[in-house]
Amino acid sequence: MGVTATVDRLRREGVDIIDFGAGEPDFSTPDAVKAAGRAAIDQDFTKYTPASGIVELRRAICDRYRADYGVEYTESEVIVTAGGKQALFNAALSLFGPGDEVITHAPCWPSLTEQIKLADARPVLVRTHPEDGFAIGARAIVDAVTPRTRGIIINSPCNPTGALIGEDDLAAIGDLAARRGIWIVIDLCYEKLIYDAVAHNLPKVLAGRCRDLTVLCGSASKAYAMTGWRCGWALGPAPLIAACGAIQSHSTSNVSSITQKAALAALTGPQATVRAMLGEYRTRRDNLDEWLGGDSRLRCRKPAGAFYTFVDIGDLLSGVAPGGFRTSTEFAAALLDEARVAVTPGEAFDAPGFIRISFATSMENLREGSARLLDFVRAHAGGVRTAAAAG
Ligand SMILES: Cc1ncc(COP(=O)(O)O)c(C=O)c1O
Repeated sequence: MGVTATVDRLRREGVDIIDFGAGEPDFSTPDAVKAAGRAAIDQDFTKYTPASGIVELRRAICDRYRADYGVEYTESEVIVTAGGKQALFNAALSLFGPGDEVITHAPCWPSLTEQIKLADARPVLVRTHPEDGFAIGARAIVDAVTPRTRGIIINSPCNPTGALIGEDDLAAIGDLAARRGIWIVIDLCYEKLIYDAVAHNLPKVLAGRCRDLTVLCGSASKAYAMTGWRCGWALGPAPLIAACGAIQSHSTSNVSSITQKAALAALTGPQATVRAMLGEYRTRRDNLDEWLGGDSRLRCRKPAGAFYTFVDIGDLLSGVAPGGFRTSTEFAAALLDEARVAVTPGEAFDAPGFIRISFATSMENLREGSARLLDFVRAHAGGVRTAAAAG
């Protein structure tokens, strides 16, 4: 969001920027969804709704998870929230408190750890690594469990790495959670953006092991290009959802009534737009990988999901060489200043030495931005420690 604010300011000043920072789809909200929002206004569906969401939408969320994953939830086990972010926050406030440890994996989306801290609990970060595509492995998570562990949060597909957790790994974590009474929160906000045919039925894996300790958090934001509408949801056992409802009822109340009608149309209507967007993201991912592959100092892998390429720029960083960059924040600042390309530095995700490139932007922007990035790297290569020089 910080990068987006800078890009907005520079654009207002007339600067031509290629924005690889955006964490949101560049597509428009599908027409049928927009029409449902307009109809809600025209039909005066503009009053308070139940704080946890209208029953039709809660039912539609249950239906979608049944159709997509084969899991059964009822309306009292679902809450409609202002984006996946509020679903995750409600869950954190309901479940975690002082003295609790909550395990998650890093590089990670920063709100996950900040929400744990806002609940007065302590985040415990398990690192994932570029060598194995940032795989979210069960072993490291299981090893981090202590008697104080109250919860484990898994984000798959992961922002910023695009990595997925394997079903076997999640099963091992689920078995442990069941034995030890540990909550598992799954952030599924990018669940519709998985590029290759891999098994990723996380709800089903947990339903058979620890359903009463599982919270599934999802969102309309990325799947339906609805970031500004603010609609997400959580599914979980009824007492937990009731606790989330109490927090929401005394803080923000219901998600906008208009948004709820639009989300209902998104979830119940044809899913062809979702597939079309996925296809376009896949082509962009593949092209970006090819273009950036032109310089071995930008070490990247094709992400399995989400719409980010997480690039290791370690070979371009140096603490000593004059004119070099010490951190990815410095690299990103110079890239913006000189080449007019905005990326998000890895520090934002607890991953110094990386930059995140969002391919939620047009193919022309990706082509032009990649060319500028490669030129920038070439221009600075003299002043930095290259892989070859480092031996
Ligand atoms: C990993 C992850 N989880 C959750 C969210 C929340 O998105 P929203 O609140 O728009 O649903 C985001 C947004 O960027 C995200 O990257």
